Amino acid sequence: MEIKSIKDLDLRAKNVLIRVDFNVPLDDNSGITDDARIRAVLPTIQYAVDSKAKVVLMSHLGRPKGTVDKKKSLLPVARRLSELMGTKVDMAPDCVGDKVNTLVDNLNPGDVLLLENLRFHIGEEKNDPEFAQRLASLGECFVNDAFATAHRAHASNVGVCDHISEKAAGFLLLREVEYINRALKNPQRPFAAVVGGAKVSGKLEIIENLLERIDKIIIGGGMAFTFVKALGQDIGKSLVEDDLVETARFIMAKAKEKGVKLYLPVDCICAPEAKEGTATVVKTIQEIPPELMGLDIGPASAALFSVALDDCSTIVWNGPMGMFELDDFAHGTKSIIEKIAASNALTIVGGGDTDAALHKSNLEDKIDFISTAGGAFLEMLGGRELPGVKVLEE
Ligand code: 3PG
Repeated sequence: MEIKSIKDLDLRAKNVLIRVDFNVPLDDNSGITDDARIRAVLPTIQYAVDSKAKVVLMSHLGRPKGTVDKKKSLLPVARRLSELMGTKVDMAPDCVGDKVNTLVDNLNPGDVLLLENLRFHIGEEKNDPEFAQRLASLGECFVNDAFATAHRAHASNVGVCDHISEKAAGFLLLREVEYINRALKNPQRPFAAVVGGAKVSGKLEIIENLLERIDKIIIGGGMAFTFVKALGQDIGKSLVEDDLVETARFIMAKAKEKGVKLYLPVDCICAPEAKEGTATVVKTIQEIPPELMGLDIGPASAALFSVALDDCSTIVWNGPMGMFELDDFAHGTKSIIEKIAASNALTIVGGGDTDAALHKSNLEDKIDFISTAGGAFLEMLGGRELPGVKVLEE
């Protein structure tokens, strides 16, 4: 079913309520350490401003669970947004209530107001109808550009749609859905998925679903050791989810049955602990000593994965190949970034850690699409319908 675009709405002089995902990382002094999610929605906000809408932005930040936590205020975001837009973005003291109503009533066409963190109210995550109605009363039209939150059914992205008939998607949400669908629905083949990160749990369903669609799967990162253990090999002190060893075995059997080529690391960078500056050694995956742990894929694995990706026409990547936060264990992830960046395939990357690794690399512009989402990206890849997207189709 078609989703309306913000371009299909008449915004002039109307109160336009836009759900964005400003869930950005903050340091101890509330400084924004990565503003990619703010930059990603600028086209939608600017379009509404240029259309002379009275723009009301709403977002969550972190998980304050219904209590006011000053450290999770969106004030730093309002400041950053003002800088990026070159215009003043006002900050409301809350997201509902009399003060907010007055601020919204006083908006002029082209003004932008950012509401305070939605999750300071318990009604947001509970998708409470009354809370949704209070939010909805702030807008004559509703635009959702928060793809990264689309896997949640909350008041600000789902409940609100019961009360506003004029609803549409922003440019970011449309682009995210289009790119991920391009990979899922009619991919150019061979289609490869590169999956990494610390844990298998949380990714099992996605891997299983992907096996229905892909031609190759490359598994790296900490999660690879659960698969290596499932092959009956010793993995020293490496990370493992013992309760998932059987599932890993099942996934390998399913890949075989489906004719999907499954690649695991053949070597790894080992150390006694995950600490910068400790002595590291490269070991084959069959010979990890009991006192060491694998913290990154080794050079032979990087070369193997690179050859496996050579002929691919579609590549989807989620999850680093090692503990890339520490320079000693960042080489494997870098090698995947460089390979994907140099590839002529349609390349789609997503997930918090993966994006962070990519932002460090200066190769972002060589990737076709970098999703701003973590959970929503994975759930959509896993074939799940996202409530925040579905509600826009209805
Ligand atoms: C994310 O960062 O994945 C989104 O902002 C959703 O946040 P949540 O996992 O706290 O719902």
